[in-house]
Amino acid sequence: MTLPTHLQSMHLPLGDQRTGRFYGQDILSVAQFARDDLEYIFGVAEAMRTMVAHIGTFDLLKGKILANLFYEPSTRTSSSFLAAMERLGGSVIPINEVKYSSVSKGESLPDTVRTLECYADVIVLRHPETGAAAIAAQAARKPIINAGDGIGEHPTQALLDLFTIRQELGRVDGLTVTMLGDLKYGRTVHSLAKLLSLFNVTLNYVSPEILRMPADLIKQLETKGVLQREQRDLDSVLAESDVLYVTRVQKERFENLDEYESVKGAYVITPETMKRAKTKMAVMHPLPRVGEISPDVDSDSRAAYFRQMEYGLYVRMALLAMVLGKA
Ligand code: NCD
Repeated sequence: MTLPTHLQSMHLPLGDQRTGRFYGQDILSVAQFARDDLEYIFGVAEAMRTMVAHIGTFDLLKGKILANLFYEPSTRTSSSFLAAMERLGGSVIPINEVKYSSVSKGESLPDTVRTLECYADVIVLRHPETGAAAIAAQAARKPIINAGDGIGEHPTQALLDLFTIRQELGRVDGLTVTMLGDLKYGRTVHSLAKLLSLFNVTLNYVSPEILRMPADLIKQLETKGVLQREQRDLDSVLAESDVLYVTRVQKERFENLDEYESVKGAYVITPETMKRAKTKMAVMHPLPRVGEISPDVDSDSRAAYFRQMEYGLYVRMALLAMVLGKA
């Protein structure tokens, strides 16, 4: 990789570092990260951001191949991993519609993964079953990156969410983070709450009764000393929130669609809501939104959800470079 001279003095943590952190490792759960890992990942993500801003695409992963294996719909996660790989000079085998692959002939996940690793250096996997990424990782020799396993985890989203909080608010310790919406089925809030437990934060969980944060997750965080509060009503915690993390009600996870109908419009963030919030706050959403945030909020400087998507590119570039031994 040849850097322009004005970038050569920046000491970017990029290059061939096969003994580097996370080289050859799977990314399955946020439980595998300590605080200094996060600092490292975010340092690399910052370097990626600089590189993209200055030269757009570069050859750090030239010759490497990513298999993007998606058993569930995705826009941001699949296209940001694809863009991340291509901006690093690598290429991608995209399998977005498993119905057109041998999965529709009844092939098992371990066999599909063993097939793809013959052709690719790393596999990004999204699957409807909790634990699928771990099963794939057991079968595979190459790194598996969990891009969402059912209602389980979405670790790369949590990393980009945390990166966003740091970029938007300058710190994580001392913040009050309010998670709103579907906390039962939302894998992004499961991963983010666990990741935030590494910091000194207060977590508010605001949801309909039937979509509460799982009790075992709350207990797990309690043992780590995280201050957590559950509410039904946003107004009781809105004014103290530094981050308002809004989620979509996960229609596809409901067994009973009447239950979905009864909670789908439970919370809607509008410009009125924003008047009662802190003047320095970040409204985040993993997206897609289906009515939880009015488009009228988009022009508010606190609306961070579009910037959040962009940060996802840099964090995923960092992760790919790390697991492939180039950061
Ligand atoms: C989320 C997901 O797939 O869990 N989307 C994403 O990856 N940005 C959130 C959602 O689908 O509601």
